[in-house]
Amino acid sequence: MRVGILTGGGDCPGLNAAIRAIVKRGTAEHGMSIVGFHNGWEGVINGDAHPLTRDDVSGILVDGGTMLGTARCHPHKVDGGLEAVRQTAAEEKLDALICIGGDGTLRAASKVNDYGVPVVGIPKTIDNDVVGTDASIGFDTAVMIATEAIDRLHSTAESHNRVMVVELMGRHSGWIAVTAGIAGGADIILAPESPFDIDAIARKIRRRHRYKNFSIVDVAEGAIPVEGSDWDAEGTLDARGNPIAGQIGRQVTQAIEDRTGFASRLTVLGYVQRGGVPTATDRLLATRFGVAAIDAVAAGKSGVFTALRGEEIELPEFSEMKGRTKFVPKQLLKTAWDL
Ligand code: F6P
Repeated sequence: MRVGILTGGGDCPGLNAAIRAIVKRGTAEHGMSIVGFHNGWEGVINGDAHPLTRDDVSGILVDGGTMLGTARCHPHKVDGGLEAVRQTAAEEKLDALICIGGDGTLRAASKVNDYGVPVVGIPKTIDNDVVGTDASIGFDTAVMIATEAIDRLHSTAESHNRVMVVELMGRHSGWIAVTAGIAGGADIILAPESPFDIDAIARKIRRRHRYKNFSIVDVAEGAIPVEGSDWDAEGTLDARGNPIAGQIGRQVTQAIEDRTGFASRLTVLGYVQRGGVPTATDRLLATRFGVAAIDAVAAGKSGVFTALRGEEIELPEFSEMKGRTKFVPKQLLKTAWDL
């Protein structure tokens, strides 16, 4: 069998671990030939690929990013994109594609699969917002990075008697902000799933500063103020409706300083959350997903994605995603607020 691999959407630590597992398992266990496409679906549309051997993936387990490159491109949104993918698959004599991506890339994968090119998906995104899997590749590393940043902000906040605001990634979900906020002991955690009242935040900080001289405020980039409050954040979304890095963090920082009189400073963690060496957890998840995906292809399966459910890796249909976003559950939000 001949199988193509692509990595699409935002990069994250663990992608290379998944590629390595696919190539090692596919060649050794199933006698397959593996082809790597450059820059996500763009590479498949343009037939931009090269063979991947065990030597090519030796030692990449710990490397951040993706050896194949990535791009934000969806064939069904490109004129003739689906047909170009089909032609590339025919020219490369591919039996299937394995697509490693977030919700957008995997939605594109389901369209390609419906168009007649067999695809198996692997969920990756630091946002952890892919429906159907308990975790996506990259999330654990982003949480580790964000938690370490919050830990470090405590000492400088205390030294300067300041309110330190840290803005974290996550697009329209608050998984990184809530998980790292709880782990890092943030005093206030603002997630998109729970719109905030800036005056209530200011009151909580003023109460805290009766006995502590600093606070840590953790803001998801997609956090939003409650409807109808007299304070509304302006210009926080781009033309596609995605959060613009730094916007909500900047406005929350200013609003807190205006309302409390406490010196407040902002750190926008940004792309640091997507860089560097994957944690052991992400290496393990990526390896398990890679093995499960190539075994699924060997068994003639397609139109499915690898999903962590408890301790098991399952293979639900793409249709389970239904273009939905996995949001932080209320119980975890309550823990974040109550602490
Ligand atoms: O989806 C992962 C992510 O890092 C989001 O958290 C963030 O909002 C977005 O990608 C940034 O997109 P880009 O890499 O295209 O700037």
